[in-house]
Order: sequence, then structure tokens, then C-alpha cells
Amino acid sequence: MSEAKPTILKLGGSVITDKDGELAAKTEVINRIAEEIKRADMDNLVIVHGGGSFGHPTAQKYGIKDGLKEPSQKVGFSETHHVMTVLNGLIMDALVWHEIPSLSITPSTCIMTENGRIKYFDDTVLCSCMKMGFVPVLYGDAVLDEKLGFTVLSGDQLVAHLALKLKAQKIVVGVDTDGLYEADPKVNASAKPYLRLNLEQLKRVQAKISGAQTTDVTGGMAGKIAELIPAVEAGISVQIINATRNLRVLRGLTGERIEGTIIEKA
Ligand code: IPE
Repeated sequence: MSEAKPTILKLGGSVITDKDGELAAKTEVINRIAEEIKRADMDNLVIVHGGGSFGHPTAQKYGIKDGLKEPSQKVGFSETHHVMTVLNGLIMDALVWHEIPSLSITPSTCIMTENGRIKYFDDTVLCSCMKMGFVPVLYGDAVLDEKLGFTVLSGDQLVAHLALKLKAQKIVVGVDTDGLYEADPKVNASAKPYLRLNLEQLKRVQAKISGAQTTDVTGGMAGKIAELIPAVEAGISVQIINATRNLRVLRGLTGERIEGTIIEKA
């Protein structure tokens, strides 16, 4: 059993799935990342993954995020959760084959939200499995909501919540760009990533991004930053890395210097 403060690793949906496809997992990337996680040999690691082309299209098709409005959506809720378990199964497959003692923890059966924000979280199993040295694996999921009936809980909200709850040392956010950019790198090829940001600078970037009419990519980034701000305020460092590139996850976890954006309170 280790006393090391936990590290939370988020694997974005755009890293582990092809967002343009339908239920399209990037199994080679998933396997490579599992190998890097094994090599990093971390004490107290928690993994959270996103939904990509599994959770998002299904949640959108049935309007799950906005809550229960008509009975026909119920099966859509089931389907959204179900496809997330399918993607989670592929991640677990890779982790177990790389001999990482890991346990899938299903957000929809231990978490409830109120108007989309986490209200109840029974962390009994999560904490016990960490004490035993297992790596808990959670994911963005369709969850029950006290006011809305149900909704979508993003992996990013979950990451920040877990980091605060578990008093994490750091959060490593794996995305498919080389960090947090001044402008959307997929639109503006000369855009550069920020190397280091403090809390005040992060808040300025957040205000700039959310004020602009943005594409999905930066829009997603603005939401990500908004979720991460409370964790940074609590002194937890955040590193945004390109998890689609070789060795970045390994080096991000072990604290080696790599390309990406480091966010720290001061
Ligand atoms: C989404 O999780 C989960 C569902 C749509 C059910 P995220 O919001 O964390 O997923 P990505 O990383 O953006 O794909």
C-alpha cells in the first residue's frame, strides 16, 4: 500500500476513438497507452476516459443531456450507458492484457447529479480498491439526475471532482493536440500551444475562449478548463498532453519534461 498522492489520468474521447466514425475505437492507440501506463508503474493512479464516437452520438440522438422529457428516451439512456460500457470494456481489455491490476467503476451506479452537477458519490468501492493497489477506471457516463431525471456526466467533471476528493497530486489530461492552444490548431495551423499557465492566466484564456464563437474543439476546451479551474485553485497541477503521440502518456505520468501545457496555481 502506498501513501503517494493520487494522479488522475484523463483519456479524451478523441484519443481513444475516431470521433468521425460510429462506435469506432482506436484499439492500437488504446493498446499503446496501456503499455505506457504499465511502464510508468504508478502508485495511486486513477483513470477516467471520455465517450468519443461511443457516448456522444447516442446521447445526442436521444437528448440525454437535457433530461427525461418523454418515455421513449429511456431506452436511449440505457443505450448511451451501454455503449460506454462497451468502450470501457475495450480499455479494460487492454489494461488487463498488460497486467495492470485495474477495476472498472461504473459512474451511473455510484453517482447521481443535480442539474448536471455531481451531488452524490458513493466512493466506498473506489477508496477500497485504491487502498488495495488497484487502478480504478471510470468514464463519462449517462447518470440519473435528481432534477432532470437523467443527464450526461462528462469525464472532465468527474476528473476534477475526483482530484479534489482524493487530494490528487496532479491531473494528466490526454487530448489529441499538443496542449492548450492560443487558437484552434485544427483551423489555424500557425497557432501555438501555451507551455505554462498560472491560475490567473488560465482564467484569462478561459474568458477569451468562452467569449468567442468557437468550433467544437475549442468549445470543448473551454468546458474542460472551466471544470479544471477549481482543481488548480486547490493547488493540483494539470498537464495537458497529446496522448495520440508515442511516449507522451508515459512521460506525463512519470513527470518527465514533454511538449504540452502545464497549469499550476502560481
Ligand atoms: C462523455 O464523456 C460521455 C457520454 C457522452 C456518455 P466526455 O465528455 O468526457 O467525453 P469526450 O472526452 O468529450 O469524448
